[in-house]
Parts: sequence; structure tokens; C-alpha cells
Amino acid sequence: MKKITGPFTQILPLTGLPLKGALKDSQLQIIKNAWVLSNNDRIITIGTLERLRKDHPSAQITEITGDRVLLPGFIDCHTHICFAGSRANDYALRSSGKSYTDIAKAGGGIWDTVTATRAASEATLVELLVKRADRHLSEGVSIIEVKSGYGLSVEQELKQLRAIKEASYKTKATLVPTCLAAHMLPKDFEGTRAEYLDDVLKNLLPIVKKENLATRVDIFVEDGAFKPETAMNFLQKAKEMGFAVTVHADQFTTGGSELAVEVGAVSADHQEATKDRDIKLLAKSDTVAVALPGASLGLGMQYAPARKLLNAGACLAIASDWNPGSAPMGDLLMQAAVLGAAEKLSAAEVFAGLTFRAAQALRLTNRGTLATGTPADFHMYPTNDYRDILYNQGKLKPILR
Ligand code: NIG
Ligand code: FE
Repeated sequence: MKKITGPFTQILPLTGLPLKGALKDSQLQIIKNAWVLSNNDRIITIGTLERLRKDHPSAQITEITGDRVLLPGFIDCHTHICFAGSRANDYALRSSGKSYTDIAKAGGGIWDTVTATRAASEATLVELLVKRADRHLSEGVSIIEVKSGYGLSVEQELKQLRAIKEASYKTKATLVPTCLAAHMLPKDFEGTRAEYLDDVLKNLLPIVKKENLATRVDIFVEDGAFKPETAMNFLQKAKEMGFAVTVHADQFTTGGSELAVEVGAVSADHQEATKDRDIKLLAKSDTVAVALPGASLGLGMQYAPARKLLNAGACLAIASDWNPGSAPMGDLLMQAAVLGAAEKLSAAEVFAGLTFRAAQALRLTNRGTLATGTPADFHMYPTNDYRDILYNQGKLKPILR
């Protein structure tokens, strides 16, 4: 059914902007006092009420009152929100001076969440995940990538991925699943890291494929998780099986981004430790650099070099990394605004990172802009100036359709 909705004080369609590199706010197209014509939830065009009504006399008109700035729905291209339990203890330990890696070595960290997630039923995981996805949706995030990685055995990873699939029917947010069985060497696996990855390739990924539980595979490349050499073989084989691959890269040490570029990963995420050499490699590649300011805030460490990445010509997305350990907050807009202030990003760069550049990290075509033919996936803010959105650092709450 055809619908005309408006008027919107400002519409930022985010179309026609380059996929890579720095952006200025002057490049943003801002359409003032306009209406949106959609048909069966796809955008047809944006224009004045007079024109739209004349061209489409049968369309149903919905009038909005008050100032409204309209943006495409946000895309969170990196989360771990399918989990049970809490890591408040880790947080307290970190605040008293212990490092994330020290806690992991001492037996806490990711393994704590694996224990709690394994103990939870699939139904409980679905319930917890739907609640978190709905919270994100209420904050303007309509597409959410969700990783497994807290099961770490064939059966338990499948439980997580099936929970993500089930949850996708129970939330209006779109969930994009990723298999992160290569999050760490499970403590109960008898064998080496390479043997564990072989087990994932041989015994888990074929089922993931057959049941269509995920089309993406991730790996944590880091001291204490998996080394680049071991990860390379795993990612190449996962690619040969038809999976898109992505990497947790350069969170504490380098090596991950270089590997991601070499293997043709869709994205290299974290980047807190990325060096100039990696920045150049990323800029020349099609691998999206994903900054995760929520992990910097959760761990109290430096941000990814977002400004340098953009200046070098990389495609930069911004995601929350929402997880119980390093990034417990989850507020994507707040985190993106804070990253923007710290790294001197324009609003255009921040919004690009939350929309069409995040869509590129997930290789979703047609998402993250309000172009003709794209799904009518948008949200709006009660203001007459788009700059208010980042200025309020997440405290200006969106109004959903
Ligand atoms: O992206 N670094 C590895 N994985 C997550 C943290 C997971 C956890 O601590 O539970 C991250 O920060
Ligand atoms: Fe992560």
C-alpha cells in the first residue's frame, strides 16, 4: 500500500556519499520540510506533499506534528548479545587494576560467560537476546549483527546460533548471525589451537551451512586467543566453504588487520592497537575497519584511530561490540558520539559509520540509506537540527515509526 508520511523538518537520506574516506558535513544532502512516499514498506521518493499527492492521489497520508529529523535506521555490525550471566566481577577486577588479558589467563573472562551460556537453555538465550535486540531497536538500531562464541563446542555453538535464528522471528530488528566458535581455545578441548580450529571446520561449519544458521565466520586474533598464522588457514578454509569472513583484529596487539586484508575479510574489527602500516593496508583494501568505542569505554583504553583511518581513505564503520565482558553498555549512538568527539569526526562520518558503511561491513546491499527502492527503515529525532543528535551524546532519544 502506498503511504505518504511527513512533514519532516530535515531528511538525511545519506545517498550519493563515497563508501571510503573522510567526509565533510557540507557533503550531506539535507532535504527540508519534505514528505516520504513509500509502497509496501519500500521508499519510492521524497518530495513536497503537493507533488507526491498529485502523482499518487490514492496514497494514504500520515501527518506528523512537531520537529523531526529523519535518518536511516542504524546498523550495529558487531555485537555479542546472545549470552547469559554477568561479568560484574571482571569489571570490578579491572577497576582495581587487573588487565582484561590477566583476568582471562587467571580463568575468568570469556570462559566465565561460556560457562553461564552453556548452562542456559536455548529458550532462555532467545528471551535474553530478544530483550537486548528490542532495547537496541528502541534506540534506533534496526539491523544487528549477533555473534555466537560463548558455546565453544559443536553442540553449544549450534544452540547459540539456533537461539539467534529463533530470536530473529521474535524481534522486529533484523538479526545477522555470525559464527565465532573461534573465540578462544575452549578449556575442555583436548588438543591444540590448530586442532580445535580443524574441529570447527570439520564438525561445526558444515552443519551451520546445512541449517543456514550463519553465512559469516569470525575469529579472535590475539595473544591468548589465536595467532595470525593459525587463523589464516582457518579463514581460508571457511572462505572455501562459502562463508564471508571477519576478524577481531588489533585489539591489544597487531597482526589481525594485516591478516584480514590478506585473506579478503569483509571487516577487521577493534583496531585499538592498529599501527600506521595497518592503516595503509586497510585503506587500500575492501576490508571495512570497524571501530568499537564501547570496548574502549568498557576497558578504559584508547580508541581506534578513526581519524587516521578515514584520512588514509579506509571505509570506517562504528559498532557497539555489546558483550558482557569488554563492552557491557551497548548504547551505540552514545558511543559513536563520544568516539566522534575524541577522534574529531564529522557528523557525516559518524552517521556513515552507523549506516551505509556498517551495511558494507555486513555486505548488505541497499541498506543504510534512504534511496528509491530501499526498505523504508528509518527513525527520527525530535529536533529541527540534525547536529543535535550527536551533540546530545545519545540522550536525545529517537521516535520510532
Ligand atoms: O570483542 N575480544 C574478544 N571478544 C569480545 C569480548 C568478549 C568477552 O569479553 O566476552 C570483544 O571485545
Ligand atoms: Fe567483539
